[in-house]
Amino acid sequence: MNAPISTEKKVKLWDFPVRLFHWALVIAIVTAWWSNREVMIDTHAIAGYCVLALVLFRIVWGFVGSSNARFASFLTGPRRVLAYLFKIPNGSMSDLTYAGHNPAGGWMVAVLIFLVGLQAVSGLFASEDTFLFFDGPLVGYVSSDVARTMNWIHHTNINLIYAAVGLHVFAAVFYLVVKRENLIRAMVIGTRQVPADLAARFAQIRFASPILGIAILIGCGLLVWVGVTLARG
Ligand code: HEM
Repeated sequence: MNAPISTEKKVKLWDFPVRLFHWALVIAIVTAWWSNREVMIDTHAIAGYCVLALVLFRIVWGFVGSSNARFASFLTGPRRVLAYLFKIPNGSMSDLTYAGHNPAGGWMVAVLIFLVGLQAVSGLFASEDTFLFFDGPLVGYVSSDVARTMNWIHHTNINLIYAAVGLHVFAAVFYLVVKRENLIRAMVIGTRQVPADLAARFAQIRFASPILGIAILIGCGLLVWVGVTLARG
């Protein structure tokens, strides 16, 4: 008797550094949110420095990382984004054909990285009169007008992050429940099941060395740590 022909194939999608970045970012952001709520400002600042280091890492990885982690591979022109978005109302869009982020998801990723980066940078300039009796490490290097603007950004931008993260998580759950496409599992374990006839395009992903990724991440962490220590004097 012949073995059943498999119509699905397991393919590697996300490298280890991207997955580490993603879930470390989630932990750092949740920690920042929770420590702010509990008025634990030292923990809040450390979580913010971690977010900054992670964002710096992701920007570098977006140029030197695996082919599907590079910005050039997933930030496509408006025509492709609109074509993808127009498929949403009738439910014909699918993430399965993309060996990386789909055209709409790619820009969502860029927006998320920009917003969390902006939040971390503006926190460096938070000043004690408006923010929990805390001085960000760079507040002494700017005028009070700039510090006030940064404070305002820090308090306003968080609402945009809530909205963007809400939409992001909604999209991931929507694909899982409605489209039966498990993007979340792939972001955890790095692989996903795709129809066998699509597997060839995933084989074209060039994966960068995970050790290089870890080295860059550690370098970004050290850079933030040294910078904050020097700025604090
Ligand atoms: C603070 C909350 C979160 C932030 C800031 C965030 C941010 C991001 C970023 C920046 C990426 C791009 C990864 C990369 O290319 O390096 C991403 C991808 C992804 N995230 Fe999140 N994320 C958050 C929470 C979550 C949660 C809770 C889930 C699961 C429900 C999730 C599911 C995913 C998935 C599935 C992808 C890959 C999307 C794709 O296949 O194109 N994220 N996220």
